[in-house]
Amino acid sequence: MNILETKDLKVYFHQKHQTVKALDGVDVFLRKGITTALAGESGCGKTTLAKTILGFHSPCSGKIYFQKEDITVKKNERLIRKNIQIVFQNPFLSLDPRYTIFSSLYETLNVFKRRSKKEAENFIAQALEEVELNRGVFFRYPHQLSGGQTQRVCIARSLIMRAPLIIFDEPTSSLDITTASKIIKLLSRLQQDKGITFLFISHNLKLIRKISQVSFIMYHGKIFEYGPTDLVYNNPLHPYTKLLKEASFLRLKSFQDSDIPQYGCPFLPRCSHRRQDCGREVIRNEVESGHFVFCNLYNKNS
Ligand SMILES: Nc1ncnc2c1ncn2[C@@H]1O[C@H](COP(=O)(O)OP(=O)(O)OP(=O)(O)O)[C@@H](O)[C@H]1O
Ligand SMILES: [Mg+2]
Repeated sequence: MNILETKDLKVYFHQKHQTVKALDGVDVFLRKGITTALAGESGCGKTTLAKTILGFHSPCSGKIYFQKEDITVKKNERLIRKNIQIVFQNPFLSLDPRYTIFSSLYETLNVFKRRSKKEAENFIAQALEEVELNRGVFFRYPHQLSGGQTQRVCIARSLIMRAPLIIFDEPTSSLDITTASKIIKLLSRLQQDKGITFLFISHNLKLIRKISQVSFIMYHGKIFEYGPTDLVYNNPLHPYTKLLKEASFLRLKSFQDSDIPQYGCPFLPRCSHRRQDCGREVIRNEVESGHFVFCNLYNKNS
């Protein structure tokens, strides 16, 4: 069953001289109780998708369904806040520096239901324990913690509401490799123990292979390829996915929007396999069971 689905989701940002199509017809689905990854290079629209799901951006068209309910419209704010949490890349920007860890978590806990400090203490201690922190951090401020500890606090905060869906937007990219790998292990364990649905956003295919069961690859606001992560990783189909895999540890330089063709495949100017029909409508092809690619090279009829 899918806990969340988007249908032909479009988010355009209008600037002075141009329109950025941050999401240009995105269809994704999140299966309940597993980790789904969303991968693509910087600027492809990953954070925009997360923020649109959370209601921070209004789509110009398309739909978002949470447990079959249409949450595209603003009036669903309460439902979204109760059911979907997010952990961002920079934990220090996510916590109020004037609040102790206890106060930050207490505030989150009280959003929907007021609890006494005494009652909240147990909830908060338990959430911190789940991320392998102890009560020693209760009365510290974010600047008195390491980056890894602060990100653990953010993860604890995302767990405390017991939301069934948590989005992680590059949660380890501001951490060193060792700390990052501990956080990844922690997330895998939490996901399995609790059966929560995770959406894990990253530009790194090696990382999403470790943590996710299903992957979506995005480029310039469009999904290019999706399927079970082992198929997408071991048998990447789209020339872009291949490039992304090779460049796993590099940040690929984005093309300017002016380089993107109006019709056909947006990857065409960078693609070494381009053919004439790449300038025409791009068809979805199922190449192996459950593994789909939007690339005309795989179109048997052309
Ligand atoms: N509020 C905004 N106003 C105008 N343009 C925006 C806004 N937010 C994002 N964009 C543009 O939309 C595109 C997608 O941005 P987004 O932040 O979603 O990318 P991303 O995939 O998360 O990149 P990164 O890996 O660097 O975090 C970019 O071209 C960005 O400049
Ligand atoms: Mg981002």
